[in-house]
Amino acid sequence: MHEMTPREIVTALDKYIISQADAKRAVAVAIRNRWRRLQLPETMREEVGPKNILMSGSTGVGKTEIARRMALLVSAPFLKVEATKFTEVGYVGRDVDSMIRDLLELAISMVQKEQTEVVREKADQQVEERILDELLPDSPTEPDESHSDADASRQRTREKFRLQLRDGELEDRLIELRVEQKVAPMGMLATTLGPDQMMPEMQDLMERIMPKQPKDRKVTIREARQVIFNQECEKLIDREKAVEMAIHRTENSGIVFVDEMDKLCGGGSSQHGPDVSRQGVQRDLLPIIEGTSVNTRHGVVKTDHILFVAAGAFHAAKPSDLMPELQGRLPIRVELSDLTEGDFVRILSEPENAITKQQIAMLATEGVTIKFTDDAVREIASIASEVNRRTENIGARRLQTITEKVMDDVSFEAPEISGQHVTIDKAYVNERLADIVKDADLSKFIL
Ligand SMILES: Nc1ncnc2c1ncn2[C@@H]1O[C@H](COP(=O)(O)OP(=O)(O)OP(=O)(O)O)[C@@H](O)[C@H]1O
Ligand SMILES: [Mg+2]
Repeated sequence: MHEMTPREIVTALDKYIISQADAKRAVAVAIRNRWRRLQLPETMREEVGPKNILMSGSTGVGKTEIARRMALLVSAPFLKVEATKFTEVGYVGRDVDSMIRDLLELAISMVQKEQTEVVREKADQQVEERILDELLPDSPTEPDESHSDADASRQRTREKFRLQLRDGELEDRLIELRVEQKVAPMGMLATTLGPDQMMPEMQDLMERIMPKQPKDRKVTIREARQVIFNQECEKLIDREKAVEMAIHRTENSGIVFVDEMDKLCGGGSSQHGPDVSRQGVQRDLLPIIEGTSVNTRHGVVKTDHILFVAAGAFHAAKPSDLMPELQGRLPIRVELSDLTEGDFVRILSEPENAITKQQIAMLATEGVTIKFTDDAVREIASIASEVNRRTENIGARRLQTITEKVMDDVSFEAPEISGQHVTIDKAYVNERLADIVKDADLSKFIL
């Protein structure tokens, strides 16, 4: 597999994220470092720890967006979580260890997917044979002399069926298929406790003692294919080895992105209520980031080399409000800058998922052709930054609210004006927004 260079990673991120060069570079280097470390000799490899990153920047400037795009780029197991989803160990809720468990599950399904590709050809052959077996069930053997004759004729029929099968002529035929049904896990226990509070070992145990009931079902060959394919893959893939590979991959290339990190800072001196629990989550994070062993149902995962990228708006709280120990474990700091009006113009039109492109595509489904003129885009950007300045600065998210407002009428009427061309120009934008923008109170509510 080709591993992307930092420059390639930044180029790929550029397709979706405007400006924020520092953050992109830091992320790109961190990803590349995963690969570099694995090229080192064993003894040295142990010594090189990951350089965890803390990203800060106001709301709506692209922090989460970077994480989302990173996830699509890396070939490593990548988990994105929100810090606010966790509670201190001992309280009801998800504990931070569960992020490592989730990461491993991701890795396992990655490995399984790859392995499936490896055995695909073989499994496909097996699928064909098993369908043929079902189409031509064994008949009791004939008396001796005609035996070989009958065999030969059976073989010919089988080949005939095989050709028909390959031509897709038999897809709607029904065949009998044995499927294993998992009995619902003792419903009560699972719902009252939730998977997290159940010890991982116990979950595993429960799955093992749960009887699997095979059941015969009549299904079309079309439906049977996937089921048999999965069954054959299960036989062909060495599950234990796959898990072992997944653990290795999690430990050495796993990346966890912890979003909303700033929400873990309490409101200051308060010593009770949710703040205590948030401090607790910070404390629980310390060993995981530093390196500890987490028990999972598939085995122990060491977290020493997992890369952590944390992000937060740090609006009310500062990175220095995090526990000092935690700050120290996130040594690389990148700040995302506030977006300028010029950035807004680019965000509106350049990214592959740009808002204007989405609007055009959505309305095209109604047969309406939309065109945004350049000065309309500039006008939307300029109004967005003005509203951000005058009311609350919500970054690029403001573009969304404003564009929706501009497109309001067209969106509603689209089915009735099918076949028409609509040009959105500066005048159109102004006409739709002028009154609202002028009135500061009104724009607080509407934009
Ligand atoms: N630099 C950018 N380039 C392109 N689009 C952006 C950029 N920043 C923000 N956006 C757009 O704005 C939306 C919100 O951004 P994002 O979710 O990254 O905000 P955030 O920085 O995580 O804010 P918060 O602190 O509120 O979570 C994104 O879905 C994206 O469409
Ligand atoms: Mg975010």
